[in-house]
Amino acid sequence: MHWPGKVPGLAYGGDYNPEQWSQATREQDLELMGEAGVNLVSVAIFSWAMLEPREGEYDWSWLDETMDRLADRGVFAALATATASPPPWLTHKHPEILPETADGVTLWPGARQAYSVSSPVFRSYALRMTRSIAERYADHPALALWHVDNELGCHNSHDFSDDAAEAFRRWLESRYHTVEELNRAWGTAFWSQRYSSFEEVLPPRKAPMFVNPTQQLDFHRYSSDELLEYFREMKRILREITPQIPVTTNFMCTTRSKNMDYFSWASDMDVVATDHYTIADDPMRHIELAFSADLTRGVAGGEPWMLMEHSTSAVNWQQRNHTKDSAEMLRDSLSHVARGADAVMFFQWRQSHAGAEKYHSAMVPHAGTDSDVWDSTVKLGHALQKLAPVQGSTVRTQVALLFDYESWWGAELDSHPNNDLSYPEEVMHWYRALWEIGVAVDVVHPSHDLSSYDALIVPCLYLVSDEHAAGIAAAAQSGASVLVSYFSGIVDENEHVRLGGYPGAFRDLLGIRTEEFWILQQDQAWGLDDGSTATFWTEKTRLADEGSGAAEAVLKYVDGPLQGLPAVTRHEVGNGSAWYAGTRLDEEATRTLIRQVMAEADVSPEHEDLPEGVEAVRRHKGAGDAKETFLFLLNHNAEGVTIRTSGMELLSGTFVSDAFDIAAGGIAVLHKR
Ligand code: GAL
Repeated sequence: MHWPGKVPGLAYGGDYNPEQWSQATREQDLELMGEAGVNLVSVAIFSWAMLEPREGEYDWSWLDETMDRLADRGVFAALATATASPPPWLTHKHPEILPETADGVTLWPGARQAYSVSSPVFRSYALRMTRSIAERYADHPALALWHVDNELGCHNSHDFSDDAAEAFRRWLESRYHTVEELNRAWGTAFWSQRYSSFEEVLPPRKAPMFVNPTQQLDFHRYSSDELLEYFREMKRILREITPQIPVTTNFMCTTRSKNMDYFSWASDMDVVATDHYTIADDPMRHIELAFSADLTRGVAGGEPWMLMEHSTSAVNWQQRNHTKDSAEMLRDSLSHVARGADAVMFFQWRQSHAGAEKYHSAMVPHAGTDSDVWDSTVKLGHALQKLAPVQGSTVRTQVALLFDYESWWGAELDSHPNNDLSYPEEVMHWYRALWEIGVAVDVVHPSHDLSSYDALIVPCLYLVSDEHAAGIAAAAQSGASVLVSYFSGIVDENEHVRLGGYPGAFRDLLGIRTEEFWILQQDQAWGLDDGSTATFWTEKTRLADEGSGAAEAVLKYVDGPLQGLPAVTRHEVGNGSAWYAGTRLDEEATRTLIRQVMAEADVSPEHEDLPEGVEAVRRHKGAGDAKETFLFLLNHNAEGVTIRTSGMELLSGTFVSDAFDIAAGGIAVLHKR
């Protein structure tokens, strides 16, 4: 059962909430969708209270009408299970389904997603709703995809209620089998934490001091698994009733969504879908977007994926929301397509005039169709029609960056050497350098087959299993250049330190041994022997004595307490090499180091001589004589650029033999056979 199923070409559309509008507006909606080339909309996401206004009483009238109208116009529906927000009659009757925070505060109804996923009562109602909607629309011609719930865990991923405590205990029992094993894994010999039965265990609720770190880590794992289990229950029902319809839910594969391990969720999806919003005060937001898209592709195992939501212009939930111009909206959309998206969807179709999201932009803005936003909506729809041949093509890279939610959870636990460390910031530090020198990267999980890559970037892989560490070492042995950054390979799966000197899992690979971390204060910086600076984190590292095969110091500290010791090292390993960055280098030094590693690995940028601020990504289709490529060039600069290239430029329909001018903020897509 796989996407794209019924929808032809690249999918285009957004969340469609007709229940908020009058008949006349709904009629106009379909006209406008036709004008913009919309072919897919997500329907009924938050519609439970409208569809089941009283327990067991259903009102399908508006949804029947919506589905029929969509089908008449050839627009397909990603139909939701309508369960993303329980109706007031349900929370009124069963307040025990509400989630609780670590401090014991109940999250009340009045907003959305006020449910505990572990509540058996909530689950039975949600599954009943899912069954009802599936039975109602099973054979409807507009139904193309199931959209389960919405952004599972967006607001309620960590629930500390009694139902959650019970579910956590069951999860722990199936992981550890015996309480002795749990005691060993959690290191409960410390602070009198020894348990004599699973019944005594609680979620990591607010405690007088630091809660047991492995308990916290396992609660992250459990919370992700618990939500996935809920998805699976819904999917089983949908599969039973509509075996022919693919099922997905919208992930949040971004640098801000820490709570779900999407690598472990992906195989349950018939197509991976994600939502992405840029952050107004991040001047490098297009690079964060690129990373999130690459992460989504990694989660999707390299297959095309769906951008289920993003925004045409401003959102409403940041402090000072940023209005996009038409060019930025187009670049955001096509940067996702360049990186593997086969669907471009928005939250939402028509901007609400009431409710908490009325200042969130949409495809049809408050101003109506006499507006730049509407013009951009139409322009993008037409651009996607021209890009239809891209559908199904994939991105191929020589470089992998390893990303791991368990390392994210582990690295950011409390009571650590540097509690300002942010895992996504560490990852972005290296990703940005790769983006800036124009090298395409796959963002993959450490369990991924690494054998085809020429270079691996391993930022802050704090928690690593023996197996994953061995996979990374094997890649170096067989010829890859591997770059590991600080606070990697420190603990095992139980968050127990690997003894004998840091980084325990990678000491041999890197040919080094760190005795102690030396954390820098806010205003401290040490000099390095190439004139650059080290901040944030340093380590008392020595090269392991291995005679001729010894690691070498690439950069050394020239002042501070570690003067003379190595800050960056390189070790020849088998047919490859292993580099270590034991400090945070400044941006220039980071780029220099990345260039050195890429040169050694013989990795070249996607396009030679690319001007600064121009993004180049290539999608590939077919092989041999049937080979096709699509080179996406996105100019993020305020001035036009000329790029030496050739092929059919799909957006303008012009044949390029030698060079192409891209306007300020503009885009070109070169198709070659
Ligand atoms: C997403 C959510 C949408 C909408 C959007 C606003 O998290 O799925 O329903 O709220 O954010 O940016």
